[in-house]
Amino acid sequence: MKQVTTGAGLRLALEEANSLGRRRVLVPTMGALHRGHLALVKRAREEAGPDGIVVVSLFVNPIQFDRGADLDAYPRPLESDLAHCQAAGVDVLFAPDVAEMYHPDRSVTVSETCLSRGLCGATRPGHFDGVCTVVLKLFLLSACHAAVFGEKDFQQLAVIRRMVRDLDVPVEILAFPTVREPDGLAMSSRNVRLTPDHRADAPRIHRALMQSARLTDVAAILDAARKEITASTFARIDYLELVDAGTLQPITSLSHPALLAAAVFYGDVRLIDHVLVLPIIC
Ligand code: PAJ
Repeated sequence: MKQVTTGAGLRLALEEANSLGRRRVLVPTMGALHRGHLALVKRAREEAGPDGIVVVSLFVNPIQFDRGADLDAYPRPLESDLAHCQAAGVDVLFAPDVAEMYHPDRSVTVSETCLSRGLCGATRPGHFDGVCTVVLKLFLLSACHAAVFGEKDFQQLAVIRRMVRDLDVPVEILAFPTVREPDGLAMSSRNVRLTPDHRADAPRIHRALMQSARLTDVAAILDAARKEITASTFARIDYLELVDAGTLQPITSLSHPALLAAAVFYGDVRLIDHVLVLPIIC
């Protein structure tokens, strides 16, 4: 595995790997790698084939954090991330620092103005501008043919697909299903920051979404999910919404596939999860 920290280093590593003509597949991450990330890397290897190049980027992107404390507390276990990437057969690991990625007087931002407005975008202002800007830069730096993203961040995936469509970015976007802990909690780099009490309680988010998604009425679904989450003494709902799975706009009736999505705080740790709700066709 080649480890590089600069854009020039990345280009050189790709040239040395004689990657021209070989399929390059990127997995963008912020590190603190877990089984969810590693499943994306495995998917990238399948996509690249044995002769292709799998590039993983590891960069805690400051411009997508709306809370300074969250950025400061974000786990950065570099040594174990390196070992995971090595073991997963990553060809090139790109781990730039902030100065390498952003000019001090940078003045260009990529903004998606529709799908990014609700859900996480509503409670984390500027978050998706930061995500789009860094992801487009990573696509350009790695000159990747394809990139793998997790469905866990459903809104992020939708926003990136829209960016790629609207800006004609020549990158194929591949989605991978959410990887969970045995008790149902969606794997997240932030899970290690939960206290033992909070960690034991957090599977209720998935349980609440799954159970209430079986109901057929919008108000009943939201009501049931809210009750189950707020029954916890620890959980505080940031948002709980039922939206159209395509437009991400709130819905009042279940006629199209919908997304039941929640963001929940445990202390200062914010966790997100969602389930798809399909209309019953009679
Ligand atoms: P990060 O949270 O590190 O996630 C990197 C990728 O892993 C994302 O595509 C995310 O959806 C996916 N992922 C995280 N947890 C997952 C799980 N439990 N199952 C499946 N996939 C999972 O998302 C980001 O970083 C950043 O916003 C990034 C795209 C790198 C831009 O900075």
